[in-house]
Amino acid sequence: MSERDHIITVPLITSNKVSNGSSPLVMVTGYDYPTAQILDQAGVDIILVGDSLSNVVMGNSNTADISVKEIVHHVKAVSNANTKALVVGDMPWLSYHLSYKNTVINASKIIKAGAKAVKLEGGKKRVDHIKAILDAEIPVMGHLGLTPQSFNVLGGFKVQGKLEAQAEILIQDAHALEEVGCFSIVLEAIPRSLANTVTNTLKIPTIGIGAGPDCDGQVIVFHDLLGFFNKSKAKFVRPYLDFNKLATEAVEKFIKDVKDHDYPNDSESYH
Ligand code: KIV
Repeated sequence: MSERDHIITVPLITSNKVSNGSSPLVMVTGYDYPTAQILDQAGVDIILVGDSLSNVVMGNSNTADISVKEIVHHVKAVSNANTKALVVGDMPWLSYHLSYKNTVINASKIIKAGAKAVKLEGGKKRVDHIKAILDAEIPVMGHLGLTPQSFNVLGGFKVQGKLEAQAEILIQDAHALEEVGCFSIVLEAIPRSLANTVTNTLKIPTIGIGAGPDCDGQVIVFHDLLGFFNKSKAKFVRPYLDFNKLATEAVEKFIKDVKDHDYPNDSESYH
């Protein structure tokens, strides 16, 4: 077990550039108390209560189908683990697209539930809303590239920034996020070379998912890391366990033991 001895704060993350000798950041999604405990015991830097909650936990087909109330519910569960890892809560689709007031109120709900920062998707066009959140003393993590909440505009979940013009816009967006005051940026599903360029030109750290090894950190969905799902996976997913198989086998064994009158035995009974 490699539980860390210090609390991870936003300033610690902000200064974590691999080019300055820091080791890469590790962010993993977590949606509940026991998972947060495991992630913290293992020593991750950041636990993201991502809007992937929508797909991974609720079984929806996209991330847009989740509310601030639901994110808040899961941020509370994760925060109850009192982790040394920084807890970041995702802002759901439409929770930061309307008025500044509405945006700040939504971000504040996620912070009041225990997150230390929020994450939201988009570049230049989100800068004013990000500024409003920052003005309320709430740190913001950016998210560029494949931004799943924009799946209708992007025409699905595809690698972004392959064309030179798209890549140029992404670089400009990354600089806009840094200038407004984001403390880090997630880069999702973009070519390795583009992630490398963005990482090398920013002072704040980049955290990649499907963006190659040159970012200042990596993020992965907890259930992908464990091999929870028995279905085809994205190219960048490396499962460290076949949890689907192991869990199914464990439950099958339990069923067999009950059917065979082997569970519970006498020593598992009260006398
Ligand atoms: O919600 C999520 O899991 C995310 C990660 C993919 C970065 O945003």
